[in-house]
Amino acid sequence: MVNVHIDPSFDDDERRRRLFAGDVVVYTTVPEVAAFAAFTRDLVTEAFTPDDPPTVHAARSPAELTEILIDFKPRFIHHPESIDHVRRITGALGGAPGDIYADVPKLRTAFPAGGLSTGIAKAFQVHRDTWYAAPTQQINWWLPVWPAAENNVMEFYPRWFGRAIANTSGDYNYYQANVWRSHIKDFSGSADTRVHPAPVRPLPDDEPRLCLVPPVGGVMLFSGDQLHASIPNSSGRTRYSIDFRTVHVVDVREGRGAPGVDVACQGTSLRDFHRLTDNAALSEDDVARYDTADAEGIKVYVPS
Ligand SMILES: [Fe+2]
Repeated sequence: MVNVHIDPSFDDDERRRRLFAGDVVVYTTVPEVAAFAAFTRDLVTEAFTPDDPPTVHAARSPAELTEILIDFKPRFIHHPESIDHVRRITGALGGAPGDIYADVPKLRTAFPAGGLSTGIAKAFQVHRDTWYAAPTQQINWWLPVWPAAENNVMEFYPRWFGRAIANTSGDYNYYQANVWRSHIKDFSGSADTRVHPAPVRPLPDDEPRLCLVPPVGGVMLFSGDQLHASIPNSSGRTRYSIDFRTVHVVDVREGRGAPGVDVACQGTSLRDFHRLTDNAALSEDDVARYDTADAEGIKVYVPS
């Protein structure tokens, strides 16, 4: 059973406990979230000038979009104000910045079906983030930049939270994936040969699905261990959203998190998380227990 909490009043400890049990939390009206969306709309609009970002797919070819996004997305991720917004949002919603470690925020673009959906604008198949070496302590924060709709966002498969499903995560090594990230242009177009963990068998057509559509200025929180996917975009408009991830240091130290019952990947993304107060990394002692990479295997860490 997955419960959805709308604008709950419980604190961060209670919220994490519920998220690790499979619940989803939505805050509908958060000024700090609205500010991050507005900041991002301005940057995206500038990048696509003179085209209107939600309809830019009609004006530019997939190759042109790739060129623009390969330049723009890293600039957004590493813009000094981007992580400031993450700090303000998590603080406004009760997270203690000295205990919260965050990954850099990512801008996602979902073009209408038939358009660019690989490489820099990858449409994610059914997966858990934990199959991609996310720690089970990870909480995902997802917010729309322009108004989103049920036919261009993402969906959950609540029947599978905490329940094993046969999957290919054993083929995934996080450190190998970091090497791929450094030449993402090679994986745009039809040549996306990266390993993407997925269920061995497709979900049935009548699989129960849960789709939530927060408003602009709202944000959705869920465990990185949720089974979820991008919905093929049939809205006719390009969807822009931001997601970032956080972990609480006490959860990392105490091994408290989501079930992670069917995770077989190698490595851990924990070194991507930095403390919101001073950008400090987690200690190697904290990370070591989660680093499942084969000592004989690839172990190259390339910061994103
Ligand atoms: Fe995901």
